[in-house]
Amino acid sequence: MTKIGKLLMVLLLLSAGSASAADWKVPFPSVPKGDGEACVRDTAFMRTNHMELLLHQRDETVHQGVRPKQTALTECLTCHAVKDQAAKPVTYKDPKHFCRACHDYAAVSIDCFSCHNSAPESSKP
Ligand code: HEC
Ligand code: HEC
Ligand code: HEC
Repeated sequence: MTKIGKLLMVLLLLSAGSASAADWKVPFPSVPKGDGEACVRDTAFMRTNHMELLLHQRDETVHQGVRPKQTALTECLTCHAVKDQAAKPVTYKDPKHFCRACHDYAAVSIDCFSCHNSAPESSKP
């Protein structure tokens, strides 16, 4: 499937989720709610553009040494931590991890967590 196809599918499913889950014969992703008042950008913007934001931040850090706090991966994972029964944040190995909520569904695979920690304490590679 094309990238845009995947994206449209997820968006469709997310909006259908709020409207009427019962109409769907297949499970759609339920995205764990983030902490705090709001995301670093508009939620709708984040849904479609989080990858650009992350990759842009990575390039700025790696190539220019710029490290704004808000868009660091650790910050994302802090607000978006999903806790297990022992109240410990789950890692990307766990299907409940925030970053897998949509990715599993849309068959997106990312390699970020082969270097970065997927739990919030220290996502620094
Ligand atoms: C201050 C806490 C906070 C930080 C930091 C934060 N978020 Fe969010 N994020 C939220 C909240 C609150 C929402 C909207 C409510 C919700 O989760 O549905 C949200 C929404 C999102 C969504 C859309 C979820 C949906 O329901 O469709 C994505 C994707 C996302 N954030 C990714 C990120 C990424 C990537 C970063 C780091 C660049 C980040 N967030 C940083 C709190 C945060
Ligand atoms: C609201 C659903 C949703 C959430 C939550 C989400 N993603 Fe995504 N992500 C997607 C979709 C859909 C794509 C595929 C878009 C495309 O193919 O262009 C994607 C693609 C990506 C990509 C680009 C992959 C590639 O090869 O092009 C990265 C990087 C990424 N996400 C990182 C993250 C991280 C890190 C988190 C957790 C902080 C996260 N995403 C949470 C829906 C989400
Ligand atoms: C080969 C190892 C490696 C992989 C894979 C990798 N990164 Fe990084 N990333 C680094 C290193 C090293 C830095 C620089 C850290 C510093 O200097 O603070 C970095 C920095 C970053 C930063 C800015 C600093 C921070 O703490 O957040 C972001 C955002 C980021 N990477 C996101 C990603 C995303 C998203 C992916 C997956 C698409 C990814 N990285 C994959 C090694 C990696």
